[in-house]
Amino acid sequence: MTLRFDDRVAIVTGAGGGLGRAYALDLASRGAKVVVNDLGGARDGSGSSLSAAQSVVDEIIAAGGEAMANGASVTDEAAVAKMVAFVKERWGRIDILINNAGILRDKTFVKMTHDDFRQVVDVHLMGSVICTKAVWEIMRQQAYGRVLMTTSSTGLYGNFGQANYGAAKMGLVGLMKTLSIEGAKYNIKVNTIAPLAATRMTEDLMPPELLSRMGPETVVPAAVFLVSDDAPSNACINAGGGGFERSYVTLTQGIHVAPEDMTAETIAARFEEISDRTGELVPDTGGAQGAVALSGAK
Ligand code: NAI
Repeated sequence: MTLRFDDRVAIVTGAGGGLGRAYALDLASRGAKVVVNDLGGARDGSGSSLSAAQSVVDEIIAAGGEAMANGASVTDEAAVAKMVAFVKERWGRIDILINNAGILRDKTFVKMTHDDFRQVVDVHLMGSVICTKAVWEIMRQQAYGRVLMTTSSTGLYGNFGQANYGAAKMGLVGLMKTLSIEGAKYNIKVNTIAPLAATRMTEDLMPPELLSRMGPETVVPAAVFLVSDDAPSNACINAGGGGFERSYVTLTQGIHVAPEDMTAETIAARFEEISDRTGELVPDTGGAQGAVALSGAK
């Protein structure tokens, strides 16, 4: 089975280089019309230029595909709205949004300013909110939509010096969870990719021998599947260097105690039991988690 995207229109943010470029090239080669969005700034978010996005568009067109460049910052509501209106007018629909744009401002928390924190949360989390909100109504009306968020192992599991980035990246998992519930009725599937790849974002963070085995093309298969017709919803796939895993937020069986035992001392005494992962669950919704909590109440 070949996954095709004929007649599908995709917006990929931050697609002027790295992973976004690889997604855009692959989707276009499978028949999608692709909007290559990129602000074209530096790794820390400073500056801007349309040339990176345009060169990816040139590559797609040279390979016989269809694409347009867009230089909107994902944090600029008006520019994003303008991009979406233009795409809708030109290509009639928007089927796929890959929220990929991102910046880094790594520092230990002690040295991190509020501005370092806000900028990173703004681009990753609010940028994804702004872009998703801009296409959401179109997807609802079409009764078709595929939205991909980009998290990171830092968001899911933590990394020294990336408190801002980790907070933003885990926020995207939370965003996916609720949007996948709200989108279900409208055939809008919302998923998350946790990539690991050699790009300018990671060039000085990983050893060269590892980077050489981790080109962006090693992440593409998972991202493309997660925005395809047959995509699941509410799935987070970790991808890179030939590895594909799935991350879950799990819940232990825990303990359920009578009112007289609801004390901090009980928690201290039974913390290991509460933490025991035997029979771990993955609730579908927050409500389902609440039901588990109440189910054993005495
Ligand atoms: P990259 O730096 O090559 O790509 C990010 C792109 O986003 C750049 O082209 C940049 O110009 C663009 N961008 C930044 N701010 C923007 C804005 N406000 N509006 C529009 N475009 C903007 O880095 P890479 O690695 O390709 O990153 C892509 C995504 O994958 C990011 O969300 C990153 O956090 C995530 N990621 C990457 C990992 C890796 O191993 N490379 C690991 C985990 C997550």
